[in-house]
Amino acid sequence: MPAAVKVKIPATVANLGPGFDALGVAIKMHLEVEIEPRRDSVEIHVEGEGAETLPKDESNLVIRSMNEFFDHVGRRPSGYSVKVRNPIPLGAGLGSSAAAVVGGLFAARAVTGRNVPQSEMVQLAASIEGHPDNILPALLGGLVVCYGTERAEEVRYFRMEPSDRLVPIVAVPAQGFSTEQARRALPDDVSFVDAQFTASRAALLVAALSSGAGTEVLAEAMNDRLHEPHRLKLMPETAAVHSELRAAGLAVALAGAGPSLLAVVPRPESATRAEQIRRVCRARSAGWRVFVSEWENQGAGAR
Ligand code: HSE
Repeated sequence: MPAAVKVKIPATVANLGPGFDALGVAIKMHLEVEIEPRRDSVEIHVEGEGAETLPKDESNLVIRSMNEFFDHVGRRPSGYSVKVRNPIPLGAGLGSSAAAVVGGLFAARAVTGRNVPQSEMVQLAASIEGHPDNILPALLGGLVVCYGTERAEEVRYFRMEPSDRLVPIVAVPAQGFSTEQARRALPDDVSFVDAQFTASRAALLVAALSSGAGTEVLAEAMNDRLHEPHRLKLMPETAAVHSELRAAGLAVALAGAGPSLLAVVPRPESATRAEQIRRVCRARSAGWRVFVSEWENQGAGAR
């Protein structure tokens, strides 16, 4: 086994508005997982987001995912020590769980030196985490359209790259929100009118992101009627920021299940738009953090 290996996994934003459970994109904010074999015992050290709250034993999602990989290849080392550096806010809608799962799997693959193909890594990761719209961009980088089949266990996808004429900005409130709770807020049925509205925006969004469309088209394309109206009711502060930024003409959507927001802006406007977003967020409360990021087209790996 190699002495120590380190892998980096990007944060991800799922849904992007109308692409509920179907669209996800990777951004430049990376979880780092370093693993070193030891003679016995498993040890984990976490720095950054979740350093105080995440479990430090085998129930930690990174360790659980490593063990899934070791069991998958039939080779669990007698012990190892793991260092996790996490800049991804937890419960924010930025794919921290997906990054932990993919980080565990990739670190375990690197340390065992097993040549498990990407397609198998995708299926393994999706079976642990269950949100392919975060898992796939975390694993592959870029902008990914996920489409399951009738057989729920089969993950299928189409990957592309968003235009670098556009810049993603994420605004993260102080308090997280549980994805399970945000999913419970969804209705059993939607109207035909809302389904048609959302399907047309999702199609427009893929075209707009890959071609680098202007703000007016993007703002229209990031409109959703399937999940956001139900979820925003549970997140009043996010809802207020969302509606103020939309009224100002920005292309904004809930990041994943929320409560963070994603804005997509033309590159030359990124600094002024970020200032505008900061002002609107901070007028609501002081705890918001605003990150001007970049698309990440490289997926998980040793870097
Ligand atoms: N598509 C999922 C949802 C993403 O919106 O519930 C969860 O991060």
